[in-house]
Amino acid sequence: RISRRRALSLAGVSAAAGVGAGVAAGRSATDASAVPADAAALKYPFYGEHQAGITTPAQDRLHFAVFDVDDIPRKDLVSLLQDWTIAAARMSQGGSAGEFAPDAGPYEAPPEDTGEAMDLGPTGLTITFGFGPTLFTAADGTDRFGIGARRPRALVDLPRFSGDMLDERISGGDLCIQACADDPQVAVHAIRNLSRIAFGRASLRYSQLGFGRTSSTSTAQVTPRNLFGFKDGTANLKAEDPAAVDEHVWVADSDDQAWMAGGSYLVSRKIRMNIEPWDRTRLSEQERAIGRTKGKGAPLSGGDEFTAPDFSMPGSGGKPIIAEQAHVRLAHPDTNGGARMLRRGYNFVDGNDDLGRLDAGLFFLCFQRDPERSFIPVQTRLAGSDLLNEYTRHVGSAIFAIPGGATEGSYVGARLFE
Ligand code: HEM
Repeated sequence: RISRRRALSLAGVSAAAGVGAGVAAGRSATDASAVPADAAALKYPFYGEHQAGITTPAQDRLHFAVFDVDDIPRKDLVSLLQDWTIAAARMSQGGSAGEFAPDAGPYEAPPEDTGEAMDLGPTGLTITFGFGPTLFTAADGTDRFGIGARRPRALVDLPRFSGDMLDERISGGDLCIQACADDPQVAVHAIRNLSRIAFGRASLRYSQLGFGRTSSTSTAQVTPRNLFGFKDGTANLKAEDPAAVDEHVWVADSDDQAWMAGGSYLVSRKIRMNIEPWDRTRLSEQERAIGRTKGKGAPLSGGDEFTAPDFSMPGSGGKPIIAEQAHVRLAHPDTNGGARMLRRGYNFVDGNDDLGRLDAGLFFLCFQRDPERSFIPVQTRLAGSDLLNEYTRHVGSAIFAIPGGATEGSYVGARLFE
């Protein structure tokens, strides 16, 4: 176990104190925050080669929002991205979304920041922007913004997978924003203010709250557990393996569209988990479905959490000890031609349904250099025969091109519009 501060310094992160303009004078960042003082002051750089929120150590909370662009000219889409960039950069450093001086006298206009994160500090906020296929090619085939020819080959329309029960209202979309922070109100504040800024240019299509990261993106983080109670993120790509991250996460200069260099592709899947039948399933069956033990998260072939699974080890009845249809076998790179991805999902509970069952699950998020070499082949195998399928249902789906990071003075996605 390594302390959180040590974990962050290993991941190249500054936990320097000092909260930006959004904190009212004379109040400490911890007064209203649910997180400890040093965690409240934690901030990640917004500008850089890559957008933050991908290899950044996964924060505890998510607010993910998807927008459709209104019927506006190209220049207004550009101005929206410029305004979003400025506000996101400020908020991620603990500042307000816009000029905000509540004590300066009577305000003639609504404040440029809604105020609810004023005393909370940045709490590790990252804001990550993405472009959906329909931004390039609208549903009716039109190229609204003159960028159709620059749609990357890797930004495919996802195929329909076996068992998909997708709801269009929580699928697709023109633009996405992933806001992650260690305080839920900070993440919600970010999305709320970016939605407010978008008014008249883009409209919220759907949004999702998430809690309890279901993945580690740094070897210094303890592996968390998902709502099935299993450790999740053990075999994930981690920031400390830059060669693997370069190979499987970041788009290279030489890949298809030069404007995507330093970017990635995000696939989101809202996966409903049938919690109640799972909770009535014997432990041995739960472990057979995953292929790992529930306690330590070790592969059923033995060892500890980080021991590599031995898929050829025999079990009883002439069958392998890790079942042919166990989740970890079907998802493992060895059985998928080396496919890997950086998983960064969150748990969700959206209340309950009409039958009194928890409306709960995993908001699965994964970043990769090319979904046709990562998510799509893996999900095709999982959808076919994963033992987990009896307990899960995919209800939402989307794919986004995540451009590289912005340089200060420019904006996210600028190279697409040059
Ligand atoms: C591994 C759970 C959906 C891809 C794992 C592990 C668990 C787990 C417990 C083992 C620990 C680890 O290595 O992280 C779940 C649950 C899901 C789900 C509960 C749905 C509710 C998916 C989906 C994909 C996926 C949709 C991608 C299409 C992977 C991969 C691994 C993995 C690539 C690592 C396999 C390895 O290299 O050993 N998952 N998962 N999972 N999962 Fe999932």
